[in-house]
Amino acid sequence: MDDRKFSVLIAGGGSTYTPGIVMTLLESQKQFPIRKLKFYDNDAARQKKIADAIAILMKERAPEVEFLATTDPETAFSDVDFVMAQIRVGKYAMRSVDEKIPLKHGVVGQETTGPGGIAYGLRSIPGVIELVDYMEQYSPNAWMLNYSNPAAIVAEATRRLRPNSRIINICDMPIAIMDRMAKIVGLPGRNDLVFRYYGLNHFGWWTDVRDKTGRDLMPQLKAYVAKNGYWLQDQEPGKEASWISTYKKAADVYALDPTTLPNTYLKYYLYPKYVVEHADPNYTRTDEVEAGREKTVFGECARVVANGTAKDIQFQASNHSTYIVDLCTAIAYDTKQRLLAIIPNEGAVANIDPEAMVEVPCLFGANGPERLSMGNAATFQKGLITEQNCVEKLVVDAYEQHSYIKLWEAMSLCKIVPDAQVAKDILDEMIVANKDFWPELK
Ligand code: NAD
Ligand code: G6P
Ligand code: MN
Repeated sequence: MDDRKFSVLIAGGGSTYTPGIVMTLLESQKQFPIRKLKFYDNDAARQKKIADAIAILMKERAPEVEFLATTDPETAFSDVDFVMAQIRVGKYAMRSVDEKIPLKHGVVGQETTGPGGIAYGLRSIPGVIELVDYMEQYSPNAWMLNYSNPAAIVAEATRRLRPNSRIINICDMPIAIMDRMAKIVGLPGRNDLVFRYYGLNHFGWWTDVRDKTGRDLMPQLKAYVAKNGYWLQDQEPGKEASWISTYKKAADVYALDPTTLPNTYLKYYLYPKYVVEHADPNYTRTDEVEAGREKTVFGECARVVANGTAKDIQFQASNHSTYIVDLCTAIAYDTKQRLLAIIPNEGAVANIDPEAMVEVPCLFGANGPERLSMGNAATFQKGLITEQNCVEKLVVDAYEQHSYIKLWEAMSLCKIVPDAQVAKDILDEMIVANKDFWPELK
């Protein structure tokens, strides 16, 4: 350890995840000390509600750390070492539309998968590119850790459009699942597991999970997942019904390939009929989040501001926030910790397009991620990955070329859309709904 302290910018300061990240930063001062914390958002009013509460918290718990919230890019991005990016272009209003239009046509309506994910992708690309450009202009040596979804499409876009930028696209789903795996086998947490994993974002499989002595944990995990999925039964009181159902459904996803353990998101691709049958087209995940996480987070911020103190603040670190701080620590101190990221394949999965953006374990250090070789994808996985990766590439083609046909192809190729006419009907509705965000398609 040396005496450096870091300057961190949270882009998307108004995000529901911001308070959790701040709690983790405060709890991690020994591991990853900070001297400055800034928030940036393009919605001043939304960000202010969170920033006003966090200002009180920072004054009470870390008065030596400079804190500010701004909508001005230069103020935000100057003198920054790490940017944690988590913007939602179009906010929950557009997420709701992404979910509800496909469902009207009998197709899965989901934040990052299928037509909803494609629509969100076209909105997110320019938003994230703008953040990258601000970072390069004002703090060219900084690293950006980007959670903004849909991470697979955003990652393909940044690979193509900003190939030399210091952005690392990440996801908390495998992290959340590995924390569950640790509980299942009785270990403290995900960092006690040594794993092999490959795929695309929200589209991957574990091929090996061990403890640090090398003991193979796959047999125990498989036996558990075959029965319960990743659901932890009475260990998760208060977990929302939709997430419990997703964790349970992993049992059926696992059944299709008992040699690996799956990411929960594969349920949308392998059981779309089931997902649609169990969806309410008038009350989707966005409605649940607005009534749940968003209300709780903003309510708690308002309470802190009204009381004028954060001494009993209810926010907590989560696997989402601890992962991002783990990554910063590994880069800052060159620890070579083995962590997952979404990076150009370049042989990591030997029989998959070297230009695919894959999610694989990497050793993280001062130069960023060094990918580890995961060998060949099995035939089942290779087929699924190849198709889905082409969907993601077609979305970025459509963005670059302003091409209607490419976007129609993307939606038609997507495994969860049954038919090109259905794809066209959904696409035409989405073009109207996204007129303030998408490029005009020719
Ligand atoms: P949220 O709507 O609460 O927060 C997003 C914030 O981004 C809002 O305050 C909004 O005003 C701001 N914003 C939108 N466009 C912007 C722009 N162009 N520039 C600056 N700010 C902008 O959303 P949330 O539910 O907290 O999620 C935030 C993001 O994190 C989403 O993209 C979500 O999908 C993503 N996420 C990703 C993972 C992952 O595994 N990769 C996990 C959790 C959340
Ligand atoms: C997981 C995924 C994220 C996704 C989130 C949605 O954490 O990894 O990519 O954004 O779930 O959660 P929500 O609670 O907003 O539906
Ligand atoms: Mn994710």
